[in-house]
Amino acid sequence: FLRGALRRADLVVVGAGVAGLTAALSAAESGLSVVVVNKGPQWSPDRGEQPTSTFYAQGGVAVVMPGRRVAVADDADSVELHLEDTLAAGAGLTDPAASRPILADGWAAVSALIDWGADFDRDGSGELLRTREGGHSVRRIIHAGGDATGAAIQRALHDAVARFTRGGSIEFLDEAIVTRVLLDEGRATGVEYLSAGRRGVVAAPTVLLATGGAGHLYVATTNPAGATGDGIALALRAGALVADLEFIQFHPTMLHTPGARGRRTLVSEAVRGEGGRLVDVLGRPVTAGVHPMGDLAPRDVVANAVEAAIEASGHPCVYLDTSAVADFERRFPTVSAGIRAAGLDPADHRIPVVPGAHYLCGGVVTDDEGRTAVDGLLAAGEVARTGLHGANRLASNSLLEGLVMGRRAARVAVGRRDLPIADLASPDGPSSGGAVPVLDRDLLQDTMTRRVALRRSADGLAEASALLRSAPRRVPTTVREIEDAALTLTAAAVVAAAEARTESRGSHVRIDFPETSGAGCSHAFRLVDGEVRA
Ligand code: SIN
Repeated sequence: FLRGALRRADLVVVGAGVAGLTAALSAAESGLSVVVVNKGPQWSPDRGEQPTSTFYAQGGVAVVMPGRRVAVADDADSVELHLEDTLAAGAGLTDPAASRPILADGWAAVSALIDWGADFDRDGSGELLRTREGGHSVRRIIHAGGDATGAAIQRALHDAVARFTRGGSIEFLDEAIVTRVLLDEGRATGVEYLSAGRRGVVAAPTVLLATGGAGHLYVATTNPAGATGDGIALALRAGALVADLEFIQFHPTMLHTPGARGRRTLVSEAVRGEGGRLVDVLGRPVTAGVHPMGDLAPRDVVANAVEAAIEASGHPCVYLDTSAVADFERRFPTVSAGIRAAGLDPADHRIPVVPGAHYLCGGVVTDDEGRTAVDGLLAAGEVARTGLHGANRLASNSLLEGLVMGRRAARVAVGRRDLPIADLASPDGPSSGGAVPVLDRDLLQDTMTRRVALRRSADGLAEASALLRSAPRRVPTTVREIEDAALTLTAAAVVAAAEARTESRGSHVRIDFPETSGAGCSHAFRLVDGEVRA
């Protein structure tokens, strides 16, 4: 077996979405050398399927210009109002002390992104256009290309990164999956990865996990194929804490296309923000009497109303009536393309939708700079739990958080630049790790979808837990097996958290504990002797 490659850098970033690339760019601007380990193929804007959830983000970025009340149409906005909406959506578990500075830093992070080349939709006088989504009391969400905000951000970040890759300060390792965080006496010293069947090592005093979420715990999801909980598993195995993983957010409006497993088209909440209305198969409003904000209530409320309407009608989906949305196909080109690809016609103004696994509200516990419990190991973006999302993320706060926390993580890396880079050996042998539980992916997804989706109960969680405990152990040697091992461990952590929370709150609904109990708190979990424990 040939010895694998060994690289050295000031910062190694795992993942190439908004948080990872923002961190890489910010660090490179401060003179750091950065290696980005990217599980997906080399960036190409024309590729049919893209590897990051960032690319698929539609609605936009929720952001307020701090220090100035911004008049947009009839709405007035402020960071305090944005915080109020974030806290209301978070159902008692959003941490105001962590959240206020993230929201307040949003405008600076968006400005940096605009400086790097991102272009947002503007009116004739150059003012940013803003839309509205569930849980927002005003129109504060900026967008690009109508509903192609994530694609525009991803493109701008890659274009900016290209300037640094040419200069040599950012190196991309494409089609490389990280297999473990390397540790020395509890301190992160780099990562080991697998690429084209060969192992390699990147030695760095700071490791940033920016791997995104875990939508592929479920049969159908809005997430791209790579959202397999990799960062949660890497962090748990490295000794970090995770929290709030029971709060898997189901988006109320994923395009209903019966059939195969995997990614489905998202139908942005902004469609409702621009006048779309949810109706059941008989045309009755889905959210009537459910919440004062109706179809624009926080996402957990609307997703549960959709689920209830599906159950009550016996019909497999509800419909988004878009007849009141002005110029639908021009305003929502991404959604329209998805509808057409599914063999439907956007001009029918009747989009079949169901709730779909969309976002991991919890994740690896970090402080307000992205530091985890492991020295030198940081996390940012969907994989992290900063306290912003609580029990239910406010729509379009995720791109904002990725931008803000990516910049903060880079600052931490800059502060650690003088630490020595560990003298690691290049890897030899086919694999470094021991045997871990690896459940068959279809079986895992079927069980999570039946038992650990929008509605949970002790019986269902016990069934999922027993299945996960029975998972055969083996040494993962292929990308698929490494992902399956990550899904298995992430599912075990989700189920443990869901079993521990004997109440209903935000996106965690227990049919056996329907009440919300008092103030509520977050529970942290870690890996002890191969088991996820509180
Ligand atoms: C959407 O456009 O509805 C998704 C926005 C988000 O997930 O925050």
